[in-house]
Amino acid sequence: MESTFAMIKPDGVRKNLTGEIISRFEKRGLMIDGMRLERLSKETANVHYGEHKGKAFFQELVDFVTSGPVVLLKISGIEGTVDIVRSMIGATDPAESSSGTIRGDFATEISENIIHGSDSLDSAARELGLFFP
Ligand code: RTP
Ligand code: MG
Repeated sequence: MESTFAMIKPDGVRKNLTGEIISRFEKRGLMIDGMRLERLSKETANVHYGEHKGKAFFQELVDFVTSGPVVLLKISGIEGTVDIVRSMIGATDPAESSSGTIRGDFATEISENIIHGSDSLDSAARELGLFFP
């Protein structure tokens, strides 16, 4: 069984999209293995997005993701689950995300793109270790 990490960002929670998003993963045949509503500390956000430290958007990203509660998800399923979840989320910039993806259906701004998903098996292991130890 392959597992990945996803996080409904504060804009997704504020827009009442939590149920819709979870429903999409479940209907696809994936299993919600862990779920928690939480407001991230700056420290946790810094660790989670550590790969982007030093980039122009880093501070804005940390401020945004700590601006309200998020929903932390462990999602499990067949081999390829990490990539399936990323494909369901869509491109980073919602302006370029296909319709039918979560970002393509519910967002327009790169800074408020509804949901995070681990981008590889390695980052899934790291992020699940951070949020679902
Ligand atoms: P995420 O980690 O949140 O799932 O997003 P991602 O993999 O699709 O994109 P990533 O490159 O990891 O970027 C993390 C988040 O930073 C914001 N961002 N802003 N202004 C910009 O050029 C820019 N680039 C990235 C986005 O909110 C992105 O989700
Ligand atoms: Mg990323």
